[in-house]
Amino acid sequence: MAAFGTVFMPQMTLATFEDGQWSDIQTVPSDRLEFHPGAHVLHYSSTCFEGLKAFRHDNGDVCIFRMDANIRRMAQSSRLLSLPPIDEAQLHQMIVDIVTQFKGDVPTPPGSMYIRPTHIGTEAAIGKAAAPSMSSLLYVLLSPVGDYFAGGDVTLRLLLEENGQRCAPHMGMVKSGGNYASALGPISRARESVDADQVLFCPNGDVQETGAANFILIDGDEVITKGLDSSFLHGVTRDSILTLARDLGMTVSERDLTVDELIERAQKPGTEAALSGTAAVLTPVGTLIHNGQEFQVGNGKPGATTLRLREALNNVQWGKAEDAHGWLTRI
Ligand code: COI
Repeated sequence: MAAFGTVFMPQMTLATFEDGQWSDIQTVPSDRLEFHPGAHVLHYSSTCFEGLKAFRHDNGDVCIFRMDANIRRMAQSSRLLSLPPIDEAQLHQMIVDIVTQFKGDVPTPPGSMYIRPTHIGTEAAIGKAAAPSMSSLLYVLLSPVGDYFAGGDVTLRLLLEENGQRCAPHMGMVKSGGNYASALGPISRARESVDADQVLFCPNGDVQETGAANFILIDGDEVITKGLDSSFLHGVTRDSILTLARDLGMTVSERDLTVDELIERAQKPGTEAALSGTAAVLTPVGTLIHNGQEFQVGNGKPGATTLRLREALNNVQWGKAEDAHGWLTRI
């Protein structure tokens, strides 16, 4: 199977913002874009994106999971990066149009069609380091995908990084390429030095998130994860998992978690940890690495509650359970 996100449907939907308004939606080839080398995005990183998925159900229906939440977050990211304002109804239509066109290519579970709306500032104005791009381009790419992290019995190894942070603390809630790029160095170093899969950023001992997904700790009937603030991405999958945990009668504690508390709790038998995200879904964590020491989380194997929550999420996404929260949009 091709690596996650390397195969694309041949067309995408696109709209441009010029002179204060959005163009009509066009459907264009997805293997090229034309804009000026002086475009704002190439110099001042005025860009954000989203990640959501469409799923094929046994009865042939194709449904997009939590499209409205992702569109709202894209509008928020665009606002926080001073990009032109997203027309949410238009983006909704762009996603529906392109998924409808490639409905027949949506893989069967556990695969899915990954949807990647992307917004870039296109004004050719390299003097505008302190002013927003007045024009922009919005497009929606599709990529049929399987697992992001290897599936099966695998658990992840996380390096706890207390000295660096993933991004500027007021920009963590923005889904922008710059935040991912700044995590690449620490992740590469962690791979090389301790064979870690991901870095869990914990500036000054505050457990935040990894480069590619949110972090949750499960201790008995309690799910613990950082409360929403501007320092990390407000994951739609995170929110879905917390909602499903509440539905299952679990206690959800959205609060600060220190590295010391994490390490202490992680070593208790029965404790579990996991990463959540559109790509990650809910992937178990088996090992935490801190200051040269390795700590096994629970018994180091995928935890029963993690697997149960992942199954509860998949069951809604795959049409095998009632969509009690109205998360699916049928195409
Ligand atoms: C997602 O989970 O959708 C992301 O954007 C993370 C990325 C590493 C694929």
